[in-house]
Amino acid sequence: MTDQKPLRSRAWFDNPANIDMTALYLERYLNFGLSLQELQSRKPIIGIAQTGSDLSPCNRHHLVLAERVREGIREAGGIAIEFPVHPIQETGKRPTAGLDRNLAYLALVEVLYGYPIDGVVLTIGCDKTTPACLMAAATVNIPAIALSVGPMLNGWHRGERTGSGTIVWKAREMLAAGEIDDKEFIRLVASSAPSTGYCNTMGTATTMNSLAEALGMSLPGSAAIPAPYRDRQENAYRTGLRIVDMVREDLKPSDILTRAAFHNAIRVNSAIGGSTNAPIHLAAIARHIGVDLPIQDWQAVGHDVPLLVNLQPAGEYLGEDYYRAGGVPAVVAQLMRRGLIDENARTANGLSIGDNCRDAAIEDERVIRPIDRPIQEAAGFIVLHGNLFDSAVMKTSVISGEFRARYLSNPDDPDAFEGPVIVFDGPEDYHARIDDPALGITAQTLLIMRGAGPIGYPGAAEVVNMRPPDYLITRGVRSLPCLGDGRQSGTSGSPSILNASPEAAAMGGLALLRDGDRVRVDLRAGTANMLVGEEELARRRHALEAAGGYPYPESQTPWQEIQRGLTGQLEGGAILEGAERYQRIAQT
Ligand code: FES
Ligand code: MG
Repeated sequence: MTDQKPLRSRAWFDNPANIDMTALYLERYLNFGLSLQELQSRKPIIGIAQTGSDLSPCNRHHLVLAERVREGIREAGGIAIEFPVHPIQETGKRPTAGLDRNLAYLALVEVLYGYPIDGVVLTIGCDKTTPACLMAAATVNIPAIALSVGPMLNGWHRGERTGSGTIVWKAREMLAAGEIDDKEFIRLVASSAPSTGYCNTMGTATTMNSLAEALGMSLPGSAAIPAPYRDRQENAYRTGLRIVDMVREDLKPSDILTRAAFHNAIRVNSAIGGSTNAPIHLAAIARHIGVDLPIQDWQAVGHDVPLLVNLQPAGEYLGEDYYRAGGVPAVVAQLMRRGLIDENARTANGLSIGDNCRDAAIEDERVIRPIDRPIQEAAGFIVLHGNLFDSAVMKTSVISGEFRARYLSNPDDPDAFEGPVIVFDGPEDYHARIDDPALGITAQTLLIMRGAGPIGYPGAAEVVNMRPPDYLITRGVRSLPCLGDGRQSGTSGSPSILNASPEAAAMGGLALLRDGDRVRVDLRAGTANMLVGEEELARRRHALEAAGGYPYPESQTPWQEIQRGLTGQLEGGAILEGAERYQRIAQT
């Protein structure tokens, strides 16, 4: 092994030049049971960034896994120090967990920078916990490895798989159509969450844990292991073992999170049918590590990649099936056959992604398809632009046959659709008015959601996928084209146009749209435009500016106000603008 770089924790615990500070630091860490010998042993001190708690059930199993992580760290010759990360629970946080990603990031940066930590195990899982941890590790740039908590077991109801999140959208339609009552609605939804772990669908959690692995930030094969499986415990132990060696090798996030790694992740996202939240979170991680990753890369690099993984919401199966079929390595191995992976990208175990995944086999072709028989060719995202916004994304793998037949079936114009819009200003407005027959919504209407971006609705709400009014659902129209400046849950199978940047609250074009205007979307040209004359748009802009800009509700908490003042747009990852200037801050 090469000469080891001095551990940064020595500056706290073994600093002869500042003996009184060393004594002060030592006495308080001693008082919970660590010994002087341990703290001055020159063993790496490994943080376990604990995202699990009673408030965050998706990640709660990390409280158990941390014991195995500690054993691994100890056995490899390190000392474990566990500490809490600001909790983020996707389903429990009001007004939206999107608000908390940057807060958890900010706090974790302070912890990693300000305490005697030589390397860190990031306990990832529920949607925003993964990007928050990876963003912080990128900024601080000490050796870091991600440990996924793993998905829940498959949900079942009357012999059919019920996927968490995804079943909610379906159950809402069934309730609206009068097919089930309130009691059955709750039973159906609860059936989808049968154990500890995160959403068992290919929602944002499975997506981001898969992408953490594809980026090289976790051990190969680790993302898909269900939380309750014994393999998950073993994986926790091996992760603890490995981080100690990463410190000895000085293998840092900046060695792993290269542009090639991000492009690998984008392609894996297309192949797994990953969430539309992924572009936001990957942009945020990339900016904090200093990698250039424009939103256009998602289409340029990812669009032509086939869909291989048959998981809800784009497909049929769930997390346990994904694991048994081979998980991320099996997907990567297939992509490698078409030259779609940069095989040299380094990963946390010290090997390249090519070496890790080359021999990974598909164990069940119903769940993971070989690349010569994909579920769908060219299944990545389309990046749109126009006078409504500078950029927005659309997930093509969830465009259903029904949607194609209704909106993309004009033989002269097969990739475009056009219609009048109804505009909602935030989710409350939508819920209050959607079933009002006076709106005159028909199967040709486009539903617009604005005021849902990171400023308008701090953190950006997951509300752009809107169900049609009850009266259309009962007539068989189960989805309408939706477009907006908010996000969409990764568990939703709706082919919406999302993450529009700049948002209405930042005076993007969406702010100027009015009920009844026509909007034309052309997927081939990559455009989405309101068919309103430039003079009229200028008049509207002038009037809105004179009235003080696009109105949005007051902040309810201090953090909402702070975040609104600092956040960028979804296209740039909605990070705290300026924070990206602080890079590699723990590097000496
Ligand atoms: Fe936590 Fe889906 S709600 S992972
Ligand atoms: Mg979500």
